[in-house]
Amino acid sequence: GLPARVRIHEVGARDGLQNEKATVPTEVKAEFIRRLADAGLTTVEATSFVHPKWVPQLADAEQLFPLVADLPVALPVLVPNERGLDRALALGATRVAVFASATESFAKANLNRTVDEALAMFEPVVARAKAEGAEQVRGYLSMCFGDPWEGPVPASQVVHVCRALLDMGCDELSLGDTIGVATPGQVSALLTALGAAGVPTEALAVHFHDTYGQALANTLAALQYGVTTVDASAGGLGGCPYAKSATGNLATEDLVWMLHGLGIETGVDLGRLVATSEWMAGRLGRPSPSRTVRALSHK
Ligand code: HMG
Ligand code: MG
Repeated sequence: GLPARVRIHEVGARDGLQNEKATVPTEVKAEFIRRLADAGLTTVEATSFVHPKWVPQLADAEQLFPLVADLPVALPVLVPNERGLDRALALGATRVAVFASATESFAKANLNRTVDEALAMFEPVVARAKAEGAEQVRGYLSMCFGDPWEGPVPASQVVHVCRALLDMGCDELSLGDTIGVATPGQVSALLTALGAAGVPTEALAVHFHDTYGQALANTLAALQYGVTTVDASAGGLGGCPYAKSATGNLATEDLVWMLHGLGIETGVDLGRLVATSEWMAGRLGRPSPSRTVRALSHK
């Protein structure tokens, strides 16, 4: 059966804005995050403490985080290494995420490391975050289904990285379809393989990009398997600068429309969320790709 409630992990301010060509002013980002919290989202990923040359769009993390730190929601941030963790902890961040890859090509492109070198880089990050009282440490896994350089990704590679992240102490694993190529049968097959390898379903989240329009169908497959945490991006913003052919994430509005239609609670006020994405689209100078935002648009 389907869950009664789903927790949405909103990634628009991080995954969405990391991919914008234009630089979004820090105050606009802060307002975006504030409005997302006002719309009822309880987990709003805020930014990344990565190398500013690698992701210039998020180079203002030190300025942004204090502007939103008072919000009564969880504000996870991405940290690739101890340098990133130091920066996040100095500002009082209590939720951090490391981000691994199931493929060698993307580990190299995104982290300048092999898969195992990246895992070794994360180990002290996770250990220190926990020792310093982090409420939650998330481990992302990119390229769980297909990779732009390597093609279809064997489940065994995903299982290997999942196990390593769990063993080092990650509380939650987010399975990424970075380039949005997965289809629902593949999602069920991967979740079954992870279950067989002893990965607890309660620890899993799904993170679908919507390149081929499969993200909602893939989400439904994951819900049917028992997953209750779903990543999405307001207005469908998003992508990854180090993965060619990655477009935006599953739009939060499209997700909320489906979940509420299924009678699944989210705590999200869809009208407020649509208004936020319309406002953001105005700031970015182009319409939201979300079908639900367009359908409910006030213009
Ligand atoms: P590197 O070049 O190998 O870095 O990059 P390094 O470890 O050799 O260090 C070089 C210099 O960078 C040093 O300075 C460090 O201090 C500095 P120097 O001593 O030469 O003056 N440095 C830093 N400065 C600030 N903050 C830091 C930091 N780290 C090192 N955190 C590195 C390795 C990991 C840093 C780099 O590859 C990087 O920043 N990568 C981030 C890429 C990224 O953010 N990608 C997007 C997020 S992932 C994603 O979108 C996928 C996801 O959505 C899921 C999905 O869809 O699949 C999560
Ligand atoms: Mg992503």
